[in-house]
Amino acid sequence: MQSIFAGFRNVSFVYSGDLSSFFLWCLFILSLVQNNVITGVYPASPSSWLFVVIAILATMYTRSDPSMGLIAKIQEHLPVSDSLSIQCRTVVSAVLFSTLLWFSLIFTMRLCLKQLLSYHGWMFEQHGKVSNTTKIWAAMVRIFSGRQPLLYSYQGSLPNLPVPTVKDTVKRYLESARPLMSDSEYERMTTLAKEFESSLGNRLQWYLKLKAMWASNYVSDWWEEYVYLRGRGPLMVNSNYYGMDFLYVTPTPIQAARAGNTLHACLLYRRKLNREEIKPVILNVPLCAAQCERIFNTTRIPGEETDSLIHWQDSEYVAVFHRGRYFRLWLYHAGRMLSPREIEQQIQRIMDDPSPPVPGEAKLAALTAGDRIPWAQARKEFFSSGVNKRSLDCIEKAAFFVALDDDEQGMRGDDPAGNLDRYAKSLLHGKCYDRWFDKSFTVVVYKNGKNGLNAEHSWADAPIMAHVWEYVMTTDSFQLGYTEEGHCKGDVASSLPPPTRLTWDIPAECQERIERSLAVAQALADDVDFHVLPIQEFGKGAIKKCKISPDAFIQIGLQLAYYRNRGTFSLTYEASMTRLFREGRTETVRSCTSESCAFIRALEGGEEVCRRLFRTAAEKHQHLYKMAMTGGGIDRHLFCLYLVSKYLGEESPFLKEVLSETWNLSTSQTPLQQVELFDFVNHPEYTTCGGGFGPVRNIHANSQIHFFLLCAFHLFSFVCS
Ligand SMILES: *[C@@H]1O[C@H](CO)[C@@H](O)[C@H](O)[C@H]1NC(C)=O
Ligand SMILES: *[C@@H]1O[C@H](CO)[C@@H](O)[C@H](O)[C@H]1NC(C)=O
Ligand SMILES: *[C@@H]1O[C@H](CO)[C@@H](O)[C@H](O)[C@H]1NC(C)=O
Repeated sequence: MQSIFAGFRNVSFVYSGDLSSFFLWCLFILSLVQNNVITGVYPASPSSWLFVVIAILATMYTRSDPSMGLIAKIQEHLPVSDSLSIQCRTVVSAVLFSTLLWFSLIFTMRLCLKQLLSYHGWMFEQHGKVSNTTKIWAAMVRIFSGRQPLLYSYQGSLPNLPVPTVKDTVKRYLESARPLMSDSEYERMTTLAKEFESSLGNRLQWYLKLKAMWASNYVSDWWEEYVYLRGRGPLMVNSNYYGMDFLYVTPTPIQAARAGNTLHACLLYRRKLNREEIKPVILNVPLCAAQCERIFNTTRIPGEETDSLIHWQDSEYVAVFHRGRYFRLWLYHAGRMLSPREIEQQIQRIMDDPSPPVPGEAKLAALTAGDRIPWAQARKEFFSSGVNKRSLDCIEKAAFFVALDDDEQGMRGDDPAGNLDRYAKSLLHGKCYDRWFDKSFTVVVYKNGKNGLNAEHSWADAPIMAHVWEYVMTTDSFQLGYTEEGHCKGDVASSLPPPTRLTWDIPAECQERIERSLAVAQALADDVDFHVLPIQEFGKGAIKKCKISPDAFIQIGLQLAYYRNRGTFSLTYEASMTRLFREGRTETVRSCTSESCAFIRALEGGEEVCRRLFRTAAEKHQHLYKMAMTGGGIDRHLFCLYLVSKYLGEESPFLKEVLSETWNLSTSQTPLQQVELFDFVNHPEYTTCGGGFGPVRNIHANSQIHFFLLCAFHLFSFVCS
């Protein structure tokens, strides 16, 4: 083989790898084109084109004209007519006509699917009481949905997020504010709101509607820019979130081996992602997959006014941090992905490297943990040329970041609860200089084989990263597995070049900046009390058995805990998602409601009727959650109206007041998405503790979370007995 292709190589083909990888490369390009075609013509399949062509030719053969004269018209205008026979020309025009017909069929199907997906009535129906409309709708969706969708197949058919009317939003806002305000405050707010609704609100709404007409989502670009990228405070704790390993098991105690499987599983996910083989998430209807595009090869770059997100099409290595040093680890060799065993070996080589960090190197990543402006300035001054630029480039263009920790973590030892808290805290902020907080995500592997991750928030919301992580965890343990000694499986190519150390030349002045960022970050990290509470006594199954939504249950439990702890209620933020719409991200559910307050007051007052009040409160919460998911929320609309008012230079006392409200309770839930990957019957201990994020606001409550546990138990015995 080599000799046959030798000539080929001599014509100085740009490709310089070996032969098998050249073929793989060709196949890869082909598969990319193929995927684009499949996604491009969805819900039809490429082969249906042939079907249409044959059908048209067949009808022509029977001497009838299915095109009502169009084929003849096309024939007249064919530019190549001279060189072709009449028959040939007829066939060419018929094929052209069929193709046009086929495209218009696809277009119509997409339009129909989009219309169908705009219907959300099904969500508001009770279990077991499905209306006829919904039944017919579901059947139609099935017809227009096509078969075997790729990840991005539905993107063109997703409806746009609708802009609610100002009147509706104001009404919903006032309803949510009622339990948190005294009568006089509420009256004042009502006046402000009505004033807004009848004057400025309409003008702002007009501009917003204009934006909604051309933008694929009227919120998301502003949300990304103003809520995330323009934030000038530290990302660490404030914005980045973390994800945990299995709670009760650590598949191997060997750090390098765990890293080997974890990294390999990440690469498998990325390969599936690039081939669009990840199945789109379907929640009766498909959810938007746009956020998946920037999982890998992505970093956030600090800027003086605003940060930016950069994504690379190509990234074949990871950047690894170990004991204050940075390494570049290539994940491919001779055109193929490294095996888990090979990655383990490479990681071991990094760990065996005795060289000490150069001055300033060890705490370098603290720059990404502190305030954004100092980091942007330091980056410009010290990292825009020479070795520093090259090394920083290497980190920023990596597929993702890997931190090998010297600590042992997990729920273990004499103080499992305390250790679990420390483990979560370590994933959230580490030592403030051992995670690269700008990178789309950092995989952390601890000395005892435990792992976890820290993810940047601007490029996507937690369910996206949770989807990756569920796959990585289960692939690591159930698919890849370990040898009896706890090492990775697979062979090692003897010729693997060792990982290379990144070189730095960090002047004293820059070291000072690093120290300053570290001080800011350290103060922030020290101020976080973190508690993780695995509840073993009951779970969402038990709550569902009592016919209550687990989410509503937890939210009301939190309200109860807050009330018992502080004697009052607070505005509460719960994140929900709007991915039923194109490029949708999140919406706020204001889960402190008049109904929940009424229940809690009754419960604390020892009233008898409160079981009914509880149901009312839970139903109200579910309703608000569904409203938020279907575009009927409050906060994103007001946020956008506020931005329009800023662009127009208008002052609105109403908007100003609403936007400056503080959320003392900020909450979120991420349910397991790929239940089929886990085996809770044979391996019930392979369960995860999910992830979490830092406090949005500083309030010094005394052990509110432990308190929550008591309240949740109380509530459970009250509701489900
Ligand atoms: C739904 O259709 C069934 C028959 O298919 C009919 O018996 C029933 O009355 C319909 N329900 C409503 C609410 O229209
Ligand atoms: C990231 O880089 C890899 C490796 O070069 C490439 O195959 C892949 O297409 C990139 N991923 C995305 C989503 O661009
Ligand atoms: C939030 O908590 C602070 C005390 O830490 C309190 O003064 C404030 O009123 C609370 N805000 C709301 C909206 O409840």
